[in-house]
Amino acid sequence: MTAPWYKTAVVYEVDVESFQDSNGDGIGDFPGLSSRLGYLAELGVTCVWLNPFYPSPNHDNGYDVADFCGVDERYGTLAQFDAFVTCAHDAGVRVVIDMPFNHVSVFHPWFEAARRDPASPYRDYFVWRADKPDDSAEQGAFGELQGGVWAYDTVADAYYYHSFYPFQADLNVANPAVVEEFKATLRFWLARGVDGFRMDAVPFLVHQEGVEQPYALLRELYAAITAVRPDAIQMGEVNVAPEELARYFGTGDQMEMLLNFHLNAHVYLALARERAEPIERALRDVPHPPPGGQWGVFLRNHDALTLSPLSEDERREVHATFAPAENMLVYGGEVRRRLAPLLGDEARVRLAHSLLLTLPGTPVLYAGDEIGMGDDLRLRERDSVRTPMQWTAGEGAGFTTAPKLRRVRPIVDTGRFAHARVNVERQEAEPNSLLAFVRRALRARRELPEVGTHSCDVLPSPHPGVLAVRYASDARAVYVLHNLTGSEVSVKAAWAVGAREVFADGEYEAVGAVGVSLRPYGFRWFEGAS
Ligand code: GLC
Ligand code: CA
Repeated sequence: MTAPWYKTAVVYEVDVESFQDSNGDGIGDFPGLSSRLGYLAELGVTCVWLNPFYPSPNHDNGYDVADFCGVDERYGTLAQFDAFVTCAHDAGVRVVIDMPFNHVSVFHPWFEAARRDPASPYRDYFVWRADKPDDSAEQGAFGELQGGVWAYDTVADAYYYHSFYPFQADLNVANPAVVEEFKATLRFWLARGVDGFRMDAVPFLVHQEGVEQPYALLRELYAAITAVRPDAIQMGEVNVAPEELARYFGTGDQMEMLLNFHLNAHVYLALARERAEPIERALRDVPHPPPGGQWGVFLRNHDALTLSPLSEDERREVHATFAPAENMLVYGGEVRRRLAPLLGDEARVRLAHSLLLTLPGTPVLYAGDEIGMGDDLRLRERDSVRTPMQWTAGEGAGFTTAPKLRRVRPIVDTGRFAHARVNVERQEAEPNSLLAFVRRALRARRELPEVGTHSCDVLPSPHPGVLAVRYASDARAVYVLHNLTGSEVSVKAAWAVGAREVFADGEYEAVGAVGVSLRPYGFRWFEGAS
């Protein structure tokens, strides 16, 4: 049986707005994104995940939706979206789109109608209280920055619930009419050819007062999707304790993919400590996905790096190593830095990419990390990691021809990560650039589908700073070693004798009787007998 497509995919997260502007208005758009499909295919991407591009007042990067079934005119038209999907499919790239069903913008017509008229059928689309709820001390996802979870609406003269910012009113999923809207939305986009959905803030979506069977909603959405397109998926943003994760997978009839936040945080702890143990522990902690289930493995994304899966002390260690300054943090301890500045030297950035591609699941890259883009800590909250893609050294970075003040966000143009230094064009010309490395790594990864399709065995660590894993199919075994330390190490591994090296951080001598050597932050991937 061949594996479902998402188990051997390489996913690339991209925000249309900051990727490529085609008409000089300073804002990325669908024609621009379409024009870069060649770049993505060449990189080895087989699926893009698009951040929300729906009509939106855009106060939370589009996660405050005003119409689930449209394209914001700043990014183009529905026809241009359709053209993009067609071009993507022609290029062998699938399309997964973000679905923030937990809430809508307070400017969404549903909320407008609900607040104006208590008798409106839309009133019950939201969660209201006539009196000020005393749980106003309850903190939402953004901590102090969002000011509680109940907001007073002057028009309705009532309080509405919001898990996130006050301008994002939570939808009432206990109301079947709301669930019907979800299904209609999913069908709308499936009919336009999308291959799946990245489901936003899933724990907030399903856990709601008055809902007795929270995960039933996931089954209902699964049924609605697969009735139209059996191979279309849901990829869930589910940052919960490991013992709760299995409930989101269900028995293969809920969400196909869950982004592995637990592993993500422990990768940074392991990198900070230069020890394999946190990754080994995280791999043990999380459940085995059910048949059809898959982990999404990632290093960074468009949000701040949440270290909530770690203990207070562990978080402090990661902060001390990777985010030592106050302005690198937001929401009480999340890291608002991009991968390259966060990890510092490039050997570690390459090591992290090697982990991304060889930890169990499907890799999910964040646009710009393949060239080691930097961040802009002067921008507010998470905008620091959302600066425009750096294509060239020229004015506008090849992203736009618009003058500075009209650009959607500033382009990084000073310091080590300035677009004059860090850009696609330059790295395409250098055989040993980070981009060239990531391309090679992705090519090598495609030769090792076992990583996405077989279970991961953590091998007894030959050295506390070395992570050793194996994926065994009937035909062969894939072995991967990572040296998380800044020193050269040599480890003994019986399996390595006779194994074929598939990929590494550089040239190595053949495996000898003395063992397998690894440079500081080095890694080696092998294929051998199972
Ligand atoms: C998710 C998104 C984040 C957004 C939030 C509210 O966590 O990843 O960017 O702000 O949901 O929609
Ligand atoms: Ca534009």
